[in-house]
Amino acid sequence: MEYFVASDGNDDSKRLRSSNQAHRPIYSPDSPAFDGASGLLFEQAMAQTRMAVCLTDPNLQDDPIVFCNEAFQQLTGYRTEEIIGRNCRFLQGPDTDQAQVGRIRDAIRSEEVVVVEILNYRKDGSTFWNTLHLGPIYDENGALKYFFGSQWDVTDIHQSRADERHAKAMAREVSHRLKNVFAVIGGIVNITGRSMNARDVARKINERVQALGRSYEPTLDEAVLGTIHVGQAIRAVLAPYDPENDRFVFTGNGIRTEPNAISAIGLTLHEMATNATKYGALSQAGGTIEVSWAHEKDKFARNSLVIQWIERGGPRITEAPEMTGTGFDIARTLLGHSRGVLETEWEPEGLNARILIPITHG
Ligand SMILES: Cc1cc2nc3c(=O)[nH]c(=O)nc-3n(C[C@H](O)[C@H](O)[C@H](O)COP(=O)(O)O)c2cc1C
Repeated sequence: MEYFVASDGNDDSKRLRSSNQAHRPIYSPDSPAFDGASGLLFEQAMAQTRMAVCLTDPNLQDDPIVFCNEAFQQLTGYRTEEIIGRNCRFLQGPDTDQAQVGRIRDAIRSEEVVVVEILNYRKDGSTFWNTLHLGPIYDENGALKYFFGSQWDVTDIHQSRADERHAKAMAREVSHRLKNVFAVIGGIVNITGRSMNARDVARKINERVQALGRSYEPTLDEAVLGTIHVGQAIRAVLAPYDPENDRFVFTGNGIRTEPNAISAIGLTLHEMATNATKYGALSQAGGTIEVSWAHEKDKFARNSLVIQWIERGGPRITEAPEMTGTGFDIARTLLGHSRGVLETEWEPEGLNARILIPITHG
């Protein structure tokens, strides 16, 4: 094999050239530690590691490669004889970022350790993202002897980071457009209501539409995950009914659910909060509502998202009021689309309600 493991057999203690280089975990292959059995060990370790490794000699013209391991050949597609004697820049190509090349050049000039992510080219012209780690190696007199380089193919990681960035940008765009749509709907409803002398109806419709919008808003950025954070949606829908932030007690974890269910949850909670403001716990000072959510087996033995709503401190309930009206009709219809139900129990201290929605995935 045509690689290079030099040894001068000098037993003097090896010192790094300056103290600020003392932390660098790079060892010289020509130190006595690489003699004999250790030399063999170095040879075998370099042969077996999946990390591409090379050494260059900065004392030769144009800092050529004097050693490379098997993984370096595998990564680049070149054979040893095509590699030894060349400067590593032969791996660069037209789309390689010159700013990164500049960083490497500066690091080499000032004999610093550097880690860069750089686009490189294989022998067959295909590209890969290379996390290149390089640093100087000194001899026992502190003279610069080699540069050590390790190359790691991070193309997959690079791609998934790019995908993630793209998905987030898309989600932000969708979120922005959706907010616009809700604003436009609000405008249309208001103007139509005014022109038809039906401002009250328009206001009611708008409240519902806006509640729907709010239930999606905080989680849209994450909608790329395919599911929505239940707690965030619940808090967003209910926030306008609790300006002092002291009426709702939320209990739940970070469970998520599919976006379809969120419309039903958003509208149902909006109706319940509107009712509570008029007749229930929010109609009186000091009244509170406990809202909790969890994944549970529901009474139909389905794995469900269960949202519990318990009102306390409102007017005493003597007779169960009818939870009817357009709002609840819409909420029940939407819940039905997700095979969900709304259960209500009127206790003397207040409403105790449960929204059950079976989980289809996630
Ligand atoms: C040990 C060592 C390993 C290197 N490995 C790579 C590499 O894998 N890919 C790359 O693009 N450049 C690599 N380089 C950088 C180039 O060899 C060269 O230093 C860089 O292009 C800046 O110099 P230039 O402006 O003269 O081209 C390495 C440099 C050294 C010293």
